[in-house]
Amino acid sequence: MTTTLEVGLGARRYPIRIGRGLLADAAGWRDAIRGRHALIVSDGNVAPLYAARLQTALSRGGLLTNTLVLPAGEAHKHLDAVSKVLDALAQLGATRDACVLALGGGVVGDIAGFAAACWMRGIDFVQFPTTLLAMVDSSVGGKTGVDHAAGKNLIGAFHQPRAVIADLDTLATLPGRELRAGLAEVVKTACIGDAAFFAWLEENADKLLARDTDTLTHAIATCCRFKAGVVERDERETGERALLNFGHTFGHALETETGYGTLLHGEAVAIGMGLAARLSTNLGMASDADMQRLQSLLQRIGLPVSLPAGANADALLARMRLDKKNRAGALRLILWRGIGRAEIAEGVQDAAVRAVLA
Ligand code: NAD
Ligand code: GLY
Repeated sequence: MTTTLEVGLGARRYPIRIGRGLLADAAGWRDAIRGRHALIVSDGNVAPLYAARLQTALSRGGLLTNTLVLPAGEAHKHLDAVSKVLDALAQLGATRDACVLALGGGVVGDIAGFAAACWMRGIDFVQFPTTLLAMVDSSVGGKTGVDHAAGKNLIGAFHQPRAVIADLDTLATLPGRELRAGLAEVVKTACIGDAAFFAWLEENADKLLARDTDTLTHAIATCCRFKAGVVERDERETGERALLNFGHTFGHALETETGYGTLLHGEAVAIGMGLAARLSTNLGMASDADMQRLQSLLQRIGLPVSLPAGANADALLARMRLDKKNRAGALRLILWRGIGRAEIAEGVQDAAVRAVLA
């Protein structure tokens, strides 16, 4: 069975399909490709496993296609990779009605989406997420971009996909560490705005780790429905959308400071959520009990909850100052009042942040 949701953005609305066998079944996504050119962008781990399914499905449609395989991992999410996608589009002779098919995790999706936003000032792209993280978060909502040496995701554009096609069969080959990293973003969704979902995760963590299809489908659909609602109300992050960054200001600083790819994005977010919860408790905004519940759920999933050895509070704070949410040099953090109640906090003093980083 395929679950279909929608991101309701008027004329730019698009479907999110979640189910099995979707890569090979062009009926579910072929209409998203409007022109004659299609470029599949994938990475060195995913392409050997899944690109042929898309290629075969595309070959039946009389399209001019090519496949570009990028090196895998966060360390390669930079402008050079975007250049490679643009070169491949040029080689294909891609016109304004061409389509980029992003087949992979969040790294491939962010790079390919950004290249699609740049080519001829914006062409179509379709997300085929193959990690849990990409299925529950990065493939939805139109944030695309790459890292800069100075910070995570500092270069990018808002550019919505034409469709998101999450084929659950691909999760069978996802390494366990990557599955756990994806669950961090699932927990994040619950932390921000859905206390009942948090309790459901406490009950179902083992089934998720065992990759039970129905349980995964429920978790992915819940996250996508939640995110779609936020994006519909605040596509360009002038307000509410910033809540989706719970744990991310700390997490992005950690990823940059430890070197891209050392900690997985989801692992850094898990540590960051723990720090945000601790800071909320220290500021008297939330109970210690909720922080403990979060930490024990993350630990059960097998995610890290403490800062890596040798983390330097001042260096991390300096990284946090370059976060995209900040205004006029002041830190804006996403903290919480408790499980399911995240909020934007302005004017948090450096000393309070340093205390949780120490
Ligand atoms: P990733 O894309 O690096 O994928 C993780 C690893 O798993 C890679 O080595 C990849 O090759 C491999 N892989 C992917 N699918 C596989 C499969 N089915 N079988 C076997 N191996 C597979 O990482 P990710 O966790 O998917 O994404 C993290 C990125 O997403 C970060 O760069 C983060 O900034 C970004 N992100 C973006 C948004 C957004 O809104 N755009 C939201 C959250 C995260
Ligand atoms: N992952 C944060 C956002 O999409 O806004």
